[in-house]
Amino acid sequence: MSKEIENHSNLNQSANEPFSSVLERHASRRDIMRGGLSLAALGMLGGLGGLNMARAQESGAQKTPLALAFESIAGSKTDAVVVPKGYTAQVLVPWGTPINDSVGPWSADRVVTPEYQANSVGMHHDAMDFFALSEESASREFVLALNNEYIDQGALWAPQGGPSNQDSGSRPADEVRTEINAHGVTLVKLSKNSDNVWSSDAGSRYNMRITSATPIEIGGPVRGSDYVVTAYSPDGTRTRGTNNNCGHGLTPWGTFLSGEENWPAIFTKTSSRTIDDNRIGIPDGRSRYAWETAAGAVDEVDAEFTRFNATPSATSASGDYRNEPRTFGYMVEVDPYGNTASVSTEAAAIKRTYLGRFRHEGAWLGKLTAGQPLAFYSGHDARNEYIYKFVSKANWDPADANRPGEDYDRLAIGAKYLDAGTLYAARFNADGTGEWLPLTADATTQDGQRLSTALGLADDDLAGVIINTCDAADLMGATPMDRPEWATVDSNSGDVYVALTNNSDRTAEGTAATFSNGGSDIDGPGVAYDTAPTNAANPRANNQAGQIIRWREPSPAATSLHWEIFVFGASANDTDNLSGLTELNQFASPDGLWFDDRGDGQGILWIETDNGYDGVAEQTNDQVLAVVPSALSHERGQAPVVGAGNQQQLKRFAVGPNGCEVTGAFTTPDKTALFINIQHPGNWPADPGAATQDATRATDGSVRPRAATVVIQKADGGQIGV
Ligand code: FEO
Ligand code: CA
Ligand code: CA
Repeated sequence: MSKEIENHSNLNQSANEPFSSVLERHASRRDIMRGGLSLAALGMLGGLGGLNMARAQESGAQKTPLALAFESIAGSKTDAVVVPKGYTAQVLVPWGTPINDSVGPWSADRVVTPEYQANSVGMHHDAMDFFALSEESASREFVLALNNEYIDQGALWAPQGGPSNQDSGSRPADEVRTEINAHGVTLVKLSKNSDNVWSSDAGSRYNMRITSATPIEIGGPVRGSDYVVTAYSPDGTRTRGTNNNCGHGLTPWGTFLSGEENWPAIFTKTSSRTIDDNRIGIPDGRSRYAWETAAGAVDEVDAEFTRFNATPSATSASGDYRNEPRTFGYMVEVDPYGNTASVSTEAAAIKRTYLGRFRHEGAWLGKLTAGQPLAFYSGHDARNEYIYKFVSKANWDPADANRPGEDYDRLAIGAKYLDAGTLYAARFNADGTGEWLPLTADATTQDGQRLSTALGLADDDLAGVIINTCDAADLMGATPMDRPEWATVDSNSGDVYVALTNNSDRTAEGTAATFSNGGSDIDGPGVAYDTAPTNAANPRANNQAGQIIRWREPSPAATSLHWEIFVFGASANDTDNLSGLTELNQFASPDGLWFDDRGDGQGILWIETDNGYDGVAEQTNDQVLAVVPSALSHERGQAPVVGAGNQQQLKRFAVGPNGCEVTGAFTTPDKTALFINIQHPGNWPADPGAATQDATRATDGSVRPRAATVVIQKADGGQIGV
C-alpha cells in the first residue's frame, strides 16, 4: 500500500494487553536503545534461544553458503532506477499499455476512457506472480498476474488538468467508470527474445482485466449468508469487483490470490451503520473518489454507482446496497489460465472468505508438505492490527499441483483447500513463543465466553465470525502489531517472515493502551486499540522504521510457534539502530518480501521498502535489499542481522525513482531475472510513450508518470544476486 492511501485512523480498539510489562522485567529500554542487550534480554526480545538452536542443528547439513556477489549500491534520489554494476533494468507493461487490439496505442497525451482502461494495464502496480505455460519455457514466457492497487488521479486525468468534482458535486459517470477500471488485476503474457529483451504480447488469449466492476463469486462460509444479500445478488452469492488489490498469494495448484487491502474508503454509509462498518472503517462522509456521487446518472446501469453508497434505502437488504461493503475485504482467487468453470457464467474469479475479512494485505503459503494441511499467512495492514493464519481442512495431495499447459478447473481445487478449514489470529508472547488463536464459533475468548456469543451471534454463525474477523481477534487476545505488510516463507525451513512496516501509534512501554470508537456511537463486541504500548514483538515506540519478524512452527497446522526479530529498520545515525545498519543498507518501512529458493536449503530474501521516515529518505528513495538468511550466523543470543559483524550480508540491490515505492517481486525459475514493480513514481519512466525502455535512464524534464514493472537481469545472462 502507499503512504497516500494507507489507513491513518486507528480502528483497533481492543483491550488486549500487550506484553510491555513482561518485557520490562527482562530488558530495560536503555539497553535496547544502545543496542547492547544482554543475552537474556535478547532472548526476551526475540525468543532467539529455541529457534536458533534449531537452526544450529540444521546448519551442519548445509552446503557452501550462498554468497551475494554484488556490491551494495549507494542511496539514490533521482528519476531513475539504479541497479548494481553489471546489471540491466528494463521497463515493462507501464500503466495504460494495451493488452489487446481493441484500443489504440498509448501516448503521453492519451485521454483515458472507460473502454481504453478496461483494455489496458491498470494503474499502480503492486504484488504480482508468474504462471508458466510449460515447465520447459517457464523462465522465458509466462502469464503475469499483476495487482493494480489504486490510482493517481493527477496522472489519470492529466490531459484535462485533474479529476472533475473530486471534492464536491457529482463525479461524471465516465470518469468514475474509468477510475473503476483502473483498479483490480491485470493478466498479460510476457516473453523474452533471444537477446533477453522482454515484451508483452497484446495478442495473447490469456490477457484480461478484472476491475472494481467485474462480476465475482463469493465462496467460503460467507457465501449465501444474509450478510452479503444485495439487490445485485439477493441470494448472497455474487458481487461486483475487487479493489485496492495489494499483496497476493500463490497457490500450489496454479492460481493467483489477490488481497483487498484499503478498500473501505471506496464506500460511504451515513446511517444504520453496523459494528463491522465501524471496526473496518467504512467512511460516513464522501468516499475516497466519490464514485457514489455518480448515482442517478442518466446512463447508470444496474446501480453501478449507487452500490458505493451503503446507506440503506429500501425496506430490506435485497433492495439496496447496505451489505455491499461486506462483499469486500477478502482474498480473491483468480485462475490466470482463464478457466472459470467453477464460477457462474459471467464471473471471473471467486472471493475465498474463509481467509478472513479485513484490510487484507495478502495470503502467503506456508511450507508445503504432502499429506499435511496447507497454511496461508495474512496481515491486516493497519496500526495495531493482527496477523492471521488459515489452515486447510484438506491435506495436500501433490496430484493437485499445477500442470502448466493443461486446461482444467483449478478453482475447483481452490474450493477443496480454501473453503474448509480454520482461521487463526496470532499471539506473540514475550518469551519468544507464540500461539495461534482459533476464530471458530465455539472458541473460548479471553473472558471465558463462547466466541459466537461474545460477538452477539447465533451459535453456528461462522459467516458472522468471518464478517467480524477483527472483533473476533480482539476477543481472543491477539497481539497488536506494527502494521503487518507482506509475508514470505522460506520453502526449505518453513520459516515465515512478515514485514512490520511502521507504527506511529505505538506508545512507550509502561503507558496504558487507549481505546476509542473511531468517532462512532456503536460499541463493538471487540474493542480495538487506539494506541498500544510496546510489546516484545513490536518493541519500539513511535516506530518509524519498522522491523521484520520471523517464526517457525512444528507443522502447518500447529497452534504454537517460536519467533524472533530478523532485522530492525533504522537510519545508520539513529540511536535505536538495533541491527547496526550502515549507509549502504539502511532502510525503513519494509513492505514487500520474496524468498527465492536456490536449492540446498538456501535462497535470497528480497526486501522492498515503502518508506516515509526522513532519517532514511534523506539519503535514498525506496529500495530493494537482499540477504541470504541461511548464511547468517546464528549464535545463541544474537539476532540474525545485528552489529558490525555481518552488515555485509544485507545489501542494497536496487533503488527506485523519486516518489515511488518498490513492491511486487518474483524471480524466474532459472533465477536470471528479478521482476519488481515501481508504484506511484513522481516523474518516470523517462520515455513517456514507450512500453519497453531502459529503467535506469533518468527522466529529462517532466513526464506523465506511469507505474510499471521492471525486470532486472545480469548483462551476462547469469543468475542474479550471486
Ligand atoms: Fe498496499 Fe499494506 O500495502
Ligand atoms: Ca506500505
Ligand atoms: Ca504493501
